[in-house]
Amino acid sequence: MTSASHLPKPHGGVLVERIRPAHLREYDHLPALELDERAYADLELIATGVYSPLEGFMGQVDYLSVLEAMRLANGLPWSIPITLGVSKRDATQYWRTVRLTRRGHTVGLLEVEEQYQPDKEYEAFAVYRTTDLSHPGVAALFASGEVYLAGKVQLFVLDRGPFPEHHYTPRETRQLFQERGWKTVVAFQTRNPIHRAHEYLHKVALEYLDGLFLHPLVGSTKSDDVPATVRMAAYQVLIERYYPRDRVLLGVYPAAMRYAGPREAVLHAISRKNYGCTHFIVGRDHAGVGNYYGPYEAQTIFANFSPEEIGIQILKFEHTFYCRACATVVSPRTCPHDSQYHLTLSGTRVRELLRAGMPLPPEFTRPEVAEVLRAAYQVS
Ligand code: ADX
Repeated sequence: MTSASHLPKPHGGVLVERIRPAHLREYDHLPALELDERAYADLELIATGVYSPLEGFMGQVDYLSVLEAMRLANGLPWSIPITLGVSKRDATQYWRTVRLTRRGHTVGLLEVEEQYQPDKEYEAFAVYRTTDLSHPGVAALFASGEVYLAGKVQLFVLDRGPFPEHHYTPRETRQLFQERGWKTVVAFQTRNPIHRAHEYLHKVALEYLDGLFLHPLVGSTKSDDVPATVRMAAYQVLIERYYPRDRVLLGVYPAAMRYAGPREAVLHAISRKNYGCTHFIVGRDHAGVGNYYGPYEAQTIFANFSPEEIGIQILKFEHTFYCRACATVVSPRTCPHDSQYHLTLSGTRVRELLRAGMPLPPEFTRPEVAEVLRAAYQVS
């Protein structure tokens, strides 16, 4: 599929696809394992090849190698373990083939090859650099089961969720990018309502590259993040009014947010390479939360790998903000004015204003987007 294409090869060389329809009744006798939202998202991401070359949940050798060296045991860069935790008690019934269920319905299979007990403190330090339970990624890690099951998975049917017309698999996006004749495609990960700094990053990238893959994360996020339905509505109005329609594709990224900052930026980049993107934007404090990570660590972490190993070009942006003297969005690289003229644009600030019932100034957000957010938060 990729031979005649300018798009990058999937990570590890081959796009993994593990969606196989089945007669569900055949599996009735197997022990059932109910997946929560995060685990189901990982199942889908493995089965559709977003996590290529993974074919299942990680075994202990890969798990330890990822924690220690940010690589799979075979040397390929990989920054965050993809694991499936169950309770010690439940683990005793999961030895061979397990029927995976979601809200009680059978959705796939796991061929259990291994069970192991993770050292979660060590995992938390390695991935999140903290064991602080107020970090949402750490909290989710400690809430998951204390035994990890490893083995290949199979998904029976792809559920395209609440945004079916924007829910693409890597095979589909690769096809679409080729049909549109895009030789270069920049992906944009986001979990916040779009603001002017985001738009600036997109448009700077579009000055040089053929297509923009806007790829908001719609899996589980922390409770004070803006819901995906609101964020998607904001994107739709913005694209309609302010973006060249034939150069933008709006898709959804079904993963859960881990808030692992630098390590998550690496996973985000590799995933977007698997969707067929050639470039990936990493700005200020990518996938960060609170003050756990330095503002540019999600950029410097890529120095641990050669560009060929990562295989997707990282477009690094400095902090961008609105300058009243320039009367536009700028960065320290382009603005000569004093900070008194600067208005900081961030998802955190947008959420603060929304919660306080304050209007979003036009320097922050386009009026059409402000209206979508206002309606959702009933800001008068
Ligand atoms: S994230 O958790 O998905 O990274 P967010 O949606 O806020 O959060 O950011 C999406 C991308 O835009 C990230 O690469 C982030 O670094 C970048 N970004 C967000 N705001 C700014 C800003 N003001 N200046 C530079 N980059 C930014």
